[in-house]
Amino acid sequence: MVETNGVGESVYGVDRWGMDLVSVMPNGDIGLKNPLIPDAVVTSLPDIVRNLGERGIQAPLLVRVASFLEQSIIGINRSFAAAIERSNYQGVYRGVFPIKVNQQAQVVQRIVDCGRQFAHGLEAGSKPELAIALAHHLAKDAMIICNGVKDADFIRLAILSLKLGFNTVIVLESPKELDTVLQVVKETGQEPLLGVRVKLTNQISGNWAKSSGDRSTFGMHTDQLVSVIDRLKDEGLLHCLKLQHSHLGSQIPDVNDVRRAVGEAARYFVELTQEGVPLTHLDLGGGLGIDYTGEKAANENSINYSMAEYCTNVVDTVSFVLNEAEITHPTLVTESGRAVVGSSAMLIFNVLETTLYDAKSAPEPEADDHHLVSELAKIPDYLSLERLQESLNDASFYRTELRAFFRRGYIGLREMARAERIYLHVMAKIKELAPAIGVDPVIDEQLEKLVDIYHCNFSLFQSLPDTWAIDQLHPVAPLQRLNEQPDRRAVLSDITCDSDGKIDKFILANGVSPSLPIHSLDDDTPYYVGVFFIGAYQETLGDLHNLFGDTNIATIELRKEGGFDLLHEQEGDTVSEVLSYVEYDPRDCIDAFRQMVDRTASDSLTAADRKQLISAYRAIISGPTYYA
Ligand SMILES: Cc1ncc(COP(=O)(O)O)c(C=O)c1O
Repeated sequence: MVETNGVGESVYGVDRWGMDLVSVMPNGDIGLKNPLIPDAVVTSLPDIVRNLGERGIQAPLLVRVASFLEQSIIGINRSFAAAIERSNYQGVYRGVFPIKVNQQAQVVQRIVDCGRQFAHGLEAGSKPELAIALAHHLAKDAMIICNGVKDADFIRLAILSLKLGFNTVIVLESPKELDTVLQVVKETGQEPLLGVRVKLTNQISGNWAKSSGDRSTFGMHTDQLVSVIDRLKDEGLLHCLKLQHSHLGSQIPDVNDVRRAVGEAARYFVELTQEGVPLTHLDLGGGLGIDYTGEKAANENSINYSMAEYCTNVVDTVSFVLNEAEITHPTLVTESGRAVVGSSAMLIFNVLETTLYDAKSAPEPEADDHHLVSELAKIPDYLSLERLQESLNDASFYRTELRAFFRRGYIGLREMARAERIYLHVMAKIKELAPAIGVDPVIDEQLEKLVDIYHCNFSLFQSLPDTWAIDQLHPVAPLQRLNEQPDRRAVLSDITCDSDGKIDKFILANGVSPSLPIHSLDDDTPYYVGVFFIGAYQETLGDLHNLFGDTNIATIELRKEGGFDLLHEQEGDTVSEVLSYVEYDPRDCIDAFRQMVDRTASDSLTAADRKQLISAYRAIISGPTYYA
């Protein structure tokens, strides 16, 4: 085994994507560092996982780091404050966290607590999210922005909450929504705080391009805006319209798209103000992205700007457009979700077993084996770099032919097994000789079909739904042995019975690859893999495919001197819980099983069998859904 320092960086590119939160320690462990304490000691993530395991919090496991979340909240508020000061902007910044991006109570509470000093508020896109927002003690100046489709109940609670001192803004998504607002205003006798959602025509690039531009679902066109303004004027309520909302998009890869969209939003602000709308707030929605790949490039999983640059561009653009029109600078609102919570959570799972597509040794062909078996076994005799492609072609041809003979009954099971094993051995020889990935794309493509499958203890659909649905990339790396050259390449398959349940795109130091360099397993030591920066959207978008439920969750804080404190623990779903989600009463299931056992003739089941059967069933019901 070759000792190689720096594999974490040279192979996995941890330094590129780690955001200074995740790094590789000299002993080859992935380490985490508290970003709020400049000289904090790095803590080994495998040690954290082992320690949590000893406390009964086993993998698969979602680890949330409190200071990673706090750093983002502090970061965005300070970056806007700095940009505002630099460009002599006259308004202030008020961030709101969109609850939909992570509704977990632990997360929202921490954002509210840490955000209080900045009057960071919340965005609600539904009645349940409004209920969450109003259950928090927000700072006096913090805002609650209500987006999305709203019925009278939603609007009534939003309006009435003003009486409690909340700054709850109802953002009108359509002229029709105004009818409901007017009806509730009449009924309650309370004036609302209103916003209006303006549909920008600028189309951004990236994965969420469809959430911007003419065909985006939400927001009003110019003629609808005019009709809303006129209606509010007629009703004597135009003075309630204080906020213009223009959602820029999500994970915007290119900062110039941000500039263009902000410029358009600011132009609307000017026009609406000149129409006599007394706007005081400009809300630019989401869009600030995360550099998942660390490439600093304008592509779907990366961004070509920093948080500071985003803030500067927003402030400068609004300032420029409004100065030209001599309009007072509004309070700037953004609804950054991904950039606030994305980096704060990681999924950790153990490898359960491997399917290898090569073999270190192989049997000799037997005397009466088909001659193609011997031809297959002779490939290593002429294998060389020059004849690599020819060797691959031959191996593929002989195996395909032999499989066809097997299907037709010309060769038997043991001969076929010998042939398969010889083929895998030839592949091992080819892989040893082949140039590093990236040198010859044709060879790479063929060898990628021969990478191992590492079977891992997680559900892609539950824990990483965006990886499945929209090809979202998250950094993935082994948590240990990063001072050892990985000797295998693999895709990571989950434990659902679904062939889609696998990760087969990985961010590596030299680009995105269809396989992950990984180590041969040592049977006695657990091998953990981490998927990083999954704090945004994944937890609630995840589903119960195969009834794999939520994993265990641990919220930790990293100590200055190394080590960690466990702030909160949330046990993963038990089988009993997931059964009840699909309307099975676990007690009824136990009863039904017990009756089946009782009905089975007593001469075929002893009392001990009966006890064993029922306790086996009960153990499943009360246990975790994942591999224990
Ligand atoms: C209205 C609105 N605000 C905020 C966001 C959050 O965006 P992001 O997570 O990119 O910050 C979204 C997401 O699409 C949104 O639709």
